[in-house]
Amino acid sequence: MNFDSIAREDLPDILCRMPKAELHIHIEGSLEPELIFALATRNRIQLTYQTIDELRTAYDFTDLRSFLDNYYAGASVLQREEDFFDLAWAYLRCAKAENIVHAEIFFDPQTHTARGIPFETVINGLDRAIRRGREELGLSATLILCFLRHLSEEDAFTALEEALPFRDKFIGVGLDSSERGNPPEKFARVFARCRELGLRLVAHAGEEGSAEYIRSALDLLKVERIDHGVRCLDDPHLVARLARQRIPLTVCPLSNVKLRVFPSLPAHNIGKLLAVGIAVTINSDDPAYFGGYLNRNFIATFEALPELGAKEAYQLARNSFQASFVDESIKDGWIGALDKFFEEQISIRNLCHS
Ligand code: ADE
Ligand code: ZN
Repeated sequence: MNFDSIAREDLPDILCRMPKAELHIHIEGSLEPELIFALATRNRIQLTYQTIDELRTAYDFTDLRSFLDNYYAGASVLQREEDFFDLAWAYLRCAKAENIVHAEIFFDPQTHTARGIPFETVINGLDRAIRRGREELGLSATLILCFLRHLSEEDAFTALEEALPFRDKFIGVGLDSSERGNPPEKFARVFARCRELGLRLVAHAGEEGSAEYIRSALDLLKVERIDHGVRCLDDPHLVARLARQRIPLTVCPLSNVKLRVFPSLPAHNIGKLLAVGIAVTINSDDPAYFGGYLNRNFIATFEALPELGAKEAYQLARNSFQASFVDESIKDGWIGALDKFFEEQISIRNLCHS
């Protein structure tokens, strides 16, 4: 495809309208302040903030740890199955509006079971929203259970045991929370068990942690995708391996700036990652906390980085489908629709210019 006829000023519209998948979204991170207040009222919970604006003002993070404190506190308003349904339903409606056709959604069961909320309450609420999304919105979505890496290996095994009766409601496992001091090897045995169970494997690595954490996640946890992974550029051998083995990175630009992984969007390395042939995708991570859902991430990143144009937009959307955990025939269908979308965009412009 020749993308030359697509002008820079047309990109925001194209980025919003192109079909795409989102592969790195924490459902608890889509909990908007408005819903926090509504659920606090519904569940008779006293919040430490008086107003929605006051809560939003507190979202000024200095690093991952300072964000996670807010994120875990916010999640405490989620009590009943209905609350988890409402949370996921709000995200899915937003995803539909953004032309996301497939979402692989993280959830953190230990954040809830540690507060006495049964695992089944969490998963049944999320699953009901996903099924409704499929029926009413025509949106494909699946769940990935994340282990909290600041907790112990034993806790992770307990979470897995609790989850197994609901094995048909999630497709894989991931690893999130504070990276530094909690290397992948801490969870090698849990991930080995998950692998035996046929679960798909991903892990956050190389967000705040070093490139070495990415290597360990690949070699010791045997993950199929790396969440974030932006620190890989510190290690040329690792970069070559990621590109050669087509290991996808789920990059989250607005998150990286909010959590000061990069000082600004123009300083982000996503353009370089794409240029060296890594299968990069763009994602929102925790959109309620980081200033935007997926389309805002795309638009802001393309505005900030002049090296990103229509060709890269197509590549990023294509990568999102290629990197997803669905059957090849389904991927082919989505990529066909993406090709058709871009071919139309190009032919409309060629008509105007001829
Ligand atoms: N949990 C939610 N968002 C996260 C992030 N960006 N890094 C690690 N754990 C998380
Ligand atoms: Zn994340």
